[in-house]
Parts: sequence; structure tokens; C-alpha cells
Amino acid sequence: MRVDCFTLFPEMFTGPFDSSILKRGADAGLIEIAIHDIRSWTYDRHHTADDAPYGGGAGMVMMAPPIIEGVEAILGDDLAKARVIITSASGKRFTQAVAQEFAAEERLVIICGHYEGIDARVTELLDAEEYAIGDYVLTGGELAAMVMIDAAARLVPGVIKAESISEESHSGELVEYPHYTRPVDYRGLEVPPILLSGHHAKIAEWRREQALLRTRERRPDLLVEE
Ligand SMILES: C[S@@+](CC[C@H](N)C(=O)[O-])C[C@H]1O[C@@H](n2cnc3c(N)ncnc32)[C@H](O)[C@@H]1O
Repeated sequence: MRVDCFTLFPEMFTGPFDSSILKRGADAGLIEIAIHDIRSWTYDRHHTADDAPYGGGAGMVMMAPPIIEGVEAILGDDLAKARVIITSASGKRFTQAVAQEFAAEERLVIICGHYEGIDARVTELLDAEEYAIGDYVLTGGELAAMVMIDAAARLVPGVIKAESISEESHSGELVEYPHYTRPVDYRGLEVPPILLSGHHAKIAEWRREQALLRTRERRPDLLVEE
């Protein structure tokens, strides 16, 4: 999976992709993440990439030309086979299922909005899809892009162990069961004895019950009522 991410604030991306699992995935050649500064495709002295909205109103709008020209310059002929995403508070909801789709893409382009957002013609011209990471408004799309890239990259085969992915929250309709590790007794709280029993079938049954309880309590919206 190669991701080309376009932003006005490339410096925000230093850190999250330089450590841990994503770095190992990149070092192994399984994922490639390139961050591009939209201002590289501005041609005035001030590198202007935004302007006042037509029709009036507060805030500034990111201009179409630097974004379109940047994406075309970097992607070239590959643009035809790339999936283009724009971060947007008014977009479709980004979910684990969408992360799985992204992980299967060969080329992904993510354009980060800022200020009031991006000139709507960018979505049309690039045949892009707009996605929101939740029902709240961020100051910019950079954190949203990092969330999407992280969620997708860990699902690329080989980045992490397959069994870690198959049983986790949002891989089915249940959230995950609780985990415990050493010590057995901590401040009077003991690890549930079943987990120390070595009885794999009973452990699996207990975990399924716990996952169901948690889902009912925390995320009843995920359960399909029988
Ligand atoms: C301050 S927001 C603009 C909000 C916009 N005026 C609206 O009401 O929908 C600036 C940028 O942050 C990003 N953003 C904000 N909330 C987001 C969310 N929940 N998911 C993804 N991107 C978001 C978008 O790229 C957006 O263009």
C-alpha cells in the first residue's frame, strides 16, 4: 500500500510514522507513506493556498489549483488507479470496514482539509470520496489522515500478526474481551481464574461471553438484534 498524503502542514506528520509498527511495516517494504506540501504547487511570493469563500462567511477555503496540480504531478498516470480521499467533517463515516478496503488499495491519496475546508471542485475533479473519522470537528484533516493511515496500514498483510487482527474489536459485531497480564493479584484485584486454567475451550467461551457483555454495555448499537 502506497499512500500519498497532501497537506499544508507536513511537519505535523513527523513522529507517528517514525516509530513502532508502522515504521517496521515501512522498513519491510509493506507500506510506503509520502507526505507532500501543497504549498509546493503555489507560485506567488507568499505561497498562497487559500482564499476567502465566494458568497461570504467566516474563514478561508483551500484553493483547488495547488491541490489538483500537486496530485497530478506526484501521481502522474497512476492517478487513474488511485483511490482519492479527502478528510471532511461532513464526509461518510470512516470505519474498520473502510480501513480494510484502504488496506487492499495499491495507491491511496489522502488530501487534508484545513480552515473552512477545500474548494468543492477538488472532490469532483479528482473523483474523490470524503471521509470523517467521527462526529466532531477537528481544526484540520491531518490528525484524521493519520488515523486513517494507521488503521489501514496495520491491516496490510504482514504488518502485524494475522491472529491479532482476527479477534479484535470491530472485526465482527462484538468489541474485544478484557485482557490481563502479570501479576495475578494486583491491589486485591485477581485475574479471573479461568484464564489461569489452561483450558482453551473454556477460555474461548469466557472471552466470548465477556465480549458480548462489553458490547451490550458499551456499544449496544453494534449488536444486530435477533
Ligand atoms: C475546521 S474543519 C472545517 C469544518 C467545516 N467547515 C464543516 O463544518 O464541516 C477543517 C478541516 O478539518 C478536517 N476535519 C474536521 N473534522 C473532521 C472529521 N471529523 N473527520 C475528518 N476530517 C475532519 C477537514 O479536512 C476540514 O476541512
